[in-house]
Amino acid sequence: MKDQTIPTTVQIALDERSYPIVIGAGLLGHATTYAVVPPAATALIVTNTTVAPLYEAKLRQALTGRYKQIHTVRLPDGEAYKDWATLNQIFDALLGQGADRKTVLFALGGGVVGDMTGFAAASYMRGVPFVQIPTTLLAQVDSSVGGKTAINHPLGKNMIGAFYQPRLVVCDLATLQTLPPRELSAGLAEVIKYGPIADMAFLDWTEQHIDALTARDPAALAHAVQRSCEIKAEVVGQDERESGIRAILNFGHTFGHAIEAGLGFGVWLHGEAVGCGMVMAAHLSQRLGLVEMAFVERLTALIARAGLATKAPVIDKEHNVDHYLGHMRLDKKAEGGDIKFVVIQSPGQAAVQSAPDAMVREVIAHCCANP
Ligand code: NAD
Ligand code: GLY
Repeated sequence: MKDQTIPTTVQIALDERSYPIVIGAGLLGHATTYAVVPPAATALIVTNTTVAPLYEAKLRQALTGRYKQIHTVRLPDGEAYKDWATLNQIFDALLGQGADRKTVLFALGGGVVGDMTGFAAASYMRGVPFVQIPTTLLAQVDSSVGGKTAINHPLGKNMIGAFYQPRLVVCDLATLQTLPPRELSAGLAEVIKYGPIADMAFLDWTEQHIDALTARDPAALAHAVQRSCEIKAEVVGQDERESGIRAILNFGHTFGHAIEAGLGFGVWLHGEAVGCGMVMAAHLSQRLGLVEMAFVERLTALIARAGLATKAPVIDKEHNVDHYLGHMRLDKKAEGGDIKFVVIQSPGQAAVQSAPDAMVREVIAHCCANP
């Protein structure tokens, strides 16, 4: 593993929308980190009430000198606030402070802040530059990279949004040291995801280093963030708008979204639902004859070692399976009510396909009943 004090860069290659992801400890407080961001008169830091006291001052100091005016909007914290009303607070700040077309937005926080800031940047004056400064593991390895931005609608998660790429992603590994343990585990679910879908050598590495990761060993976290970003960059570079291969990044998400929506958003964290969703998707892959039960057990054991639940929750006492299926039909990959699943075709390779209803029902019933 490399020295995590030396920053690494992973490039997202998307022609004129290409940008670097810089990864290292202490980066967010250095002015030089932001040298590639276009010059402007005004910057707006978008953060939340939890992250602001920890990191806003450092960021503000780094940006002073580069921008004449630096404003901040501190949003309420939580998935429940990933909505129109909270998004409007960003527009209120931009318009209230006379932000122009060159104003740069800086998203300082986890995936919720990142997704909302990105959507605000995509739509304010039809598009202004923005920078992602993800401060959760989940955001560093997944949500800040690749340009998916969104807010939730009461009828569905991430249903209103845009593809809009940031100019720079700054993964400051030092921020992971203040993350609550439950959030660290949730982020590890997305790290674990990359092995079965794309790189079994990375799954081997993750198994060998899972204790170091849960203990927040800086070198282990640095490698996990770098390799996750490399794999995501490779996939997004081939399919920016998810017309094909990008869908494999949603391994575990079809079942996971049903858990999140079925229990009510925020009861299980996104990463927790994805962790359990991967167990369910692995069982489906096994029933489809694609992988051995030994593979399902191996993945399940790793998810458990990351501190995540592997038994699916009952979301409705009387009609549990029907409720799961109802939520899964609202998944963005569904076509005309036909649910599409990301399955493991063979270890290290994923595909998107339908599955017989009866088989999906069996998987839900089995995973809700067994650890
Ligand atoms: P989050 O943004 O809610 O952050 C988790 C919690 O940690 C929050 O309470 C936050 O305030 C706090 N926090 C953040 N950084 C901290 C730090 N360094 N120290 C202490 N506390 C800190 O959740 P998340 O897991 O980062 O992101 C989940 C969101 O990301 C969901 O809305 C999900 O839909 C979205 N997502 C988007 C994509 C995408 O491609 N755009 C991919 C995956 C997930
Ligand atoms: N998190 C899935 C994607 O970015 O496509």
